[in-house]
Amino acid sequence: MRITPVLITLALSSVAQAAPVDIPASPNGIAFPADYADWRVISISHRVDNHTLRMILGNDVAIKAARNGQTNPWPDGAILGKVVWKEAAEVNWPTAIAPKAFVHAEFMFRDSKKWTENGTGWGWARWKGADYTPYGENAKIEQECIACHTPVKGRNWVFTTPAAFPAVVK
Ligand code: HEC
Repeated sequence: MRITPVLITLALSSVAQAAPVDIPASPNGIAFPADYADWRVISISHRVDNHTLRMILGNDVAIKAARNGQTNPWPDGAILGKVVWKEAAEVNWPTAIAPKAFVHAEFMFRDSKKWTENGTGWGWARWKGADYTPYGENAKIEQECIACHTPVKGRNWVFTTPAAFPAVVK
């Protein structure tokens, strides 16, 4: 059979899409969760001091826990993501605030047996900028994260309260 250039191009592009994203791991060895943009929403927040919008996302395990109120502790396997954008006025409605430049994505990986040494039961990692540069110089990067999350130690180290998604009445 004669394979046309169009078919070859199609075959190559589908291979490229299926390939894992080539983002380096965090200095503490945590791999980049390349499918995070497909996760579902737990909540949102707006930081008025540095003018950023945040979306708090969860993988399937985290979403199930959030919707069922099982968040203290979160179950092993849950991953929470926080994605941060600079804020800007919505082009077609300037009194609305919308996300603009991507700042970073950071994650908490729940594994109460693996992450015992840092005292939290979570693995912590951040990737900065649109090219996802791993954040931090060495394996101790989570100390900065944990220091700031310490006020919510009693909430399993998590600030976010899942936003209400009222059940549909049948
Ligand atoms: C300056 C304080 C501070 C530091 C440092 C910090 N965080 Fe947070 N983090 C917060 C606050 C406050 C929230 C609540 C939501 C928000 O920011 O809008 C939050 C939320 C999160 C969330 C969503 C779940 C939750 O707790 O609400 C993740 C995931 C997260 N941070 C990961 C990290 C990681 C990983 C690091 C270190 C690389 C880090 N954080 C460092 C203050 C901090």
